[in-house]
Amino acid sequence: MAYRVPFVDPGKHYSNLKSEIDEAITDCLSKGDLILRSQLKDFEENFVSFVGTKYAVGLNSGYHALALSLQAAGIGAGDEVITVAHTFVASISAIVHCGAIPVLIDVGKDYNMNMDELESAITSRTRAVLPVHLNGRVCDMDRLMGIAKKHNLIVIEDAAQSVGAKYNGKIAGSFGLAGCFSHYPFKILGGFGDGGTITTDDPDIARKTTLLRYNGEDRETGEYHYHGYTCLLDNVQAAVLDVKLRHLPVWIKRRREIAELYRQGLSDIDDLFLPHFGREKYFDVYQNYVIRTKKRDDLYNYLEEQGVETLIHWRKPVWEHKRLNLGQHNLPETESICKEVISLPMSTETSDEHVEYTVECIRNYFKS
Ligand SMILES: Cc1ncc(COP(=O)(O)O)c(C=O)c1O
Repeated sequence: MAYRVPFVDPGKHYSNLKSEIDEAITDCLSKGDLILRSQLKDFEENFVSFVGTKYAVGLNSGYHALALSLQAAGIGAGDEVITVAHTFVASISAIVHCGAIPVLIDVGKDYNMNMDELESAITSRTRAVLPVHLNGRVCDMDRLMGIAKKHNLIVIEDAAQSVGAKYNGKIAGSFGLAGCFSHYPFKILGGFGDGGTITTDDPDIARKTTLLRYNGEDRETGEYHYHGYTCLLDNVQAAVLDVKLRHLPVWIKRRREIAELYRQGLSDIDDLFLPHFGREKYFDVYQNYVIRTKKRDDLYNYLEEQGVETLIHWRKPVWEHKRLNLGQHNLPETESICKEVISLPMSTETSDEHVEYTVECIRNYFKS
C-alpha cells in the first residue's frame, strides 16, 4: 500500500543525498577500498569528534556493539546485568549471549529505566547496568551513574536510538564505560545496510573490541588474541555514514521541529499522552515520536485507513516471548505501554504537510 504519509521514506532520503552518496561509494569501489581502509578510519575519527570520547570502533550492528562491549568489559557466565524490559530484544540478547543473566526492571513514564527500581535489583552477582536511551532520550544519568559508582558497577549504554541526544549537556554514549550505537537504516544516523559503533574513553575496551571485531587478530602483527567474530563495519557503509554524519546536526534539528509541530497540534487532546516530559535537563532527538492512548489499536487502524503509516514498539512484553526463557515478570508500566503506544511518522523526509495531515487525522479520530 502506498501511504499518503509514510513512516519513513528511504527512497527519498537517498535521492536527497544522491550526489554525495554516489561519489563516496564510487570512490570506495573504484579504489577497491572494501575492508578496513581509510573510509572506516575517517568515519571513526569523525564520530569521535561528534560524541567527544577518545575512541570509536565501527561494527556491523548495534547488537554487536553491545555484545562486544559486554565481553570486553569482562562480563560473563553467572554475572547479572540489569536492564529494562521495554527495549528492543537485542539489548537483552547481547547479555544472554555473553553468558550473563539479564535482570529486567520497569521503565518510567518517559519510557526509560525507572531509577527507583535500580538499586533494589542489585545483588551480590550484579556486575553491570545497561541503560537504554530509548526513543531519542537519555536516561536520568545523574542517578544512574551515582548508583553504579556506589555499587561498583560497570555501565554499558545502549544508545542505539539516541545519537546526539544529551542529558545535562552531556551526550549519549559518553557516560559509561562504553556507548553502543546502531546504524540500522532507519536510525537517525542509519546506513544503507546494518552498522553500529562503540564509543569509549577506555583504551582497553577500544583495543579488545577492535580485535574481537576482526576474529581476534591484531592486523599489524597477525597475532590472534581472542576467539573473535567477523563483525567489522564495512568500508562502503562507513563511507556512507561519514557523508550522513555531516548532515546529522541539521537532521536532529528537523526532528525536534517535527516533534514540536506534533506537540502544538495534539497537546489539547485529553486522551493522548505526548512525549514531552521534563525537558530542562534533556535534549531529545526523537528517534521515535511515541504517543500513548487507551484507544491505541483503534487509532492505529483508523490512521492506516487514512493512509498514515504508524508503528508499534512493541505489542507484548519481551518476557511473553516464551522461547526466550526470560521468566515471568510483573512490570506494570512495561505491560501497559505495550497496549497503549503508537509511533507517528518521523524522519528527515517527513514534511510539515505530512505532520499537518497526521495531526488532522488524529484530531478527527478523537472528535468522533
Ligand atoms: C534500543 C536498541 N538496542 C539495540 C538495537 C540493535 O541494533 P541493530 O539493529 O543495529 O543490531 C536496536 C535496534 O533496533 C535498538 O533499538
